[in-house]
Amino acid sequence: MARTLVTGARGRLGPYLAAEATALGAVITSARSGGDVECDLTDGAAVASLLDRAAPSLVLHAAAMTDVDACEVRPDEADAANRQAVEHLVRHLPAGARLIVISTDQVYPDTAGPHLEDETGPVNIYGKTKLAGEQAALEHPGALVLRTNFFGPPASLSDFFLDAFAAGRPVPLFEDVAFSPLHAATLARLALAAVRAGAEGVYNLGSRDGMTKAEFARALAAHAGLSTATARVARSTLQPGRAPRPRDLRMDVARFEARLSLTLPTLAEEIATS
Ligand SMILES: NC(=O)c1ccc[n+]([C@@H]2O[C@H](COP(=O)([O-])OP(=O)(O)OC[C@H]3O[C@@H](n4cnc5c(N)ncnc54)[C@H](OP(=O)(O)O)[C@@H]3O)[C@@H](O)[C@H]2O)c1
Repeated sequence: MARTLVTGARGRLGPYLAAEATALGAVITSARSGGDVECDLTDGAAVASLLDRAAPSLVLHAAAMTDVDACEVRPDEADAANRQAVEHLVRHLPAGARLIVISTDQVYPDTAGPHLEDETGPVNIYGKTKLAGEQAALEHPGALVLRTNFFGPPASLSDFFLDAFAAGRPVPLFEDVAFSPLHAATLARLALAAVRAGAEGVYNLGSRDGMTKAEFARALAAHAGLSTATARVARSTLQPGRAPRPRDLRMDVARFEARLSLTLPTLAEEIATS
């Protein structure tokens, strides 16, 4: 039986991972505030104490500073949360414990996707610090990095669109940004499948095709029976004050599909079952 430590346990993805990990054995949740053990992962001594108390055989690391625009204006904070925190985990992990790090499609450049795993070139501080965190993780023998994007409650892009359509609020639909997320529940299930399969190294884990964010919003609305009459088409590059972002975030998932001998769902399938 595994003893799984889930970091970022009070974030959007952490609870999905914690729920899936119960099938492997005991689960210990950690967050800065709340969870079984409170810990600021930027504090090396606190991480040593956390790992001592939790004594995990598996760490699912979902904690991160995820606000792309905040990372751009507070790069030292982003570096501490997204790179140094992983270094602390690697330094203090019990011998033989497995480390799974959740990363992001923001490590890819502003070029046409779908991106293969070795095509990195982040254009913002969030992507740069997450990539540095991946590299820190890979110092740990057998580490697994899953680059991803996801939707589903609470407080994700899908909630933003559905809430706006339900309330009849005007909402911009970016037709110049494409991505390939999975539902968070699917992502958590597949992350644990990768653990069971003993996968190591770096994998893209998303839907097998992708859509523009405008197509995604319209498909969500159609599935929920909501009108998109209040939506307006917009271009991401014209939004003032935003950190730079890659416009094509779609990931090539062939490596993951081959390693686990499965076919990942399309984004339309993910929306239809959400
Ligand atoms: N959301 C997305 O669309 C998306 C897309 C691609 C990849 N990802 C990746 O998926 C993972 C999970 O994302 P998410 O959306 O669940 O993130 P989230 O909702 O922002 O949650 C992240 C959690 O990390 C915690 N955290 C931040 N700094 C910390 C620190 N110094 N010490 C301890 N905990 C800290 C936060 O705790 P507080 O509540 O205390 O701030 C928060 O609960 C991240 O690695 C992210 O990079 C997310």
